[in-house]
Amino acid sequence: SRVKIAVQGIFVADLAFRSHRMPAPGESVIGRSYGIGPGGKASNQAVAAARAGAEVALIARLGRDSFAEMARALFVREGVIDAHVGSDDEAPTGAAAITVDETTGENAIVVVPGASGRLSTGDIDAAAARIAASDIFMTQLETPPEISAYGLRLARTQGVRTIFNPAPAAEIAADLYALADFFTPNESEAAALAGHPVGSLAEAEAAAASFLSRGVGTAIITLGARGAVVRGPGFNGHVPPFDIGRAVDTTGAGDAYNGALAVAIAEGMPLERALRFAAAAGAVAVTTVGTAEAMPRRDAVERLLAGG
Ligand code: RIB
Ligand code: NA
Repeated sequence: SRVKIAVQGIFVADLAFRSHRMPAPGESVIGRSYGIGPGGKASNQAVAAARAGAEVALIARLGRDSFAEMARALFVREGVIDAHVGSDDEAPTGAAAITVDETTGENAIVVVPGASGRLSTGDIDAAAARIAASDIFMTQLETPPEISAYGLRLARTQGVRTIFNPAPAAEIAADLYALADFFTPNESEAAALAGHPVGSLAEAEAAAASFLSRGVGTAIITLGARGAVVRGPGFNGHVPPFDIGRAVDTTGAGDAYNGALAVAIAEGMPLERALRFAAAAGAVAVTTVGTAEAMPRRDAVERLLAGG
């Protein structure tokens, strides 16, 4: 039977614009193409976990507008359970303005959480039975940190293992670290949270060690094209990247990574293998334009793991 994952956070509509380079402040550039599609880290991670083979429930909020219809259609198409995705009468569905540099595949994002930013402790309480029945609970920092903390604490109280993806980085209370069985910042988030640069592998190792001393179970610092640095009881060291050639669009690669990691851990894969599985999912995601649409299916991940 399929493992069960509960993901808490936001859905937004992504408005993504591709151009030969990023505009500088005060500047306009003529872009080449744009796309409007489903996004938001929690929703993307939910899709990634569903495509990796899990039964997934999302805890979020939408408005009552066309972007909400886009969301519901996505959940139906992907088989993501949306019983705990509420509809807000007062706030619109959120949206993100994304600029993708076509030369490097890198992005810059402004995300407005909208209705999902109004996710309440009551919404999370209403999903308590679903969370308790899950193998993994996962959340991010696109909702207010105290809402992320509430979900993590509820999961922990029920004996459910947690993945805390502190993205984007924000001030978090000291007692939040201990609620994360797995803590998965990328390099800029790790730098902001650790309070020192995370440019080299040695600096990433130092940041991982500091997260462990603050109470996380396993720290996994994702470094994009340089792989990941991991510290914890199940694995210590560097996980090399997959070589996928040129990155087309890095948007959502972290979400593909986290969604796949959740499934691998829930399935009981040894940690080193789970980390390879997640890395392969992140690598496949950067070869495709878009975010939710770019989340890889399990067979694509397994093909890359098998060496082509
Ligand atoms: O991680 C990528 C996501 O971050 C995008 O879908 C965008 O909506 C932002 O939330
Ligand atoms: Na992508």
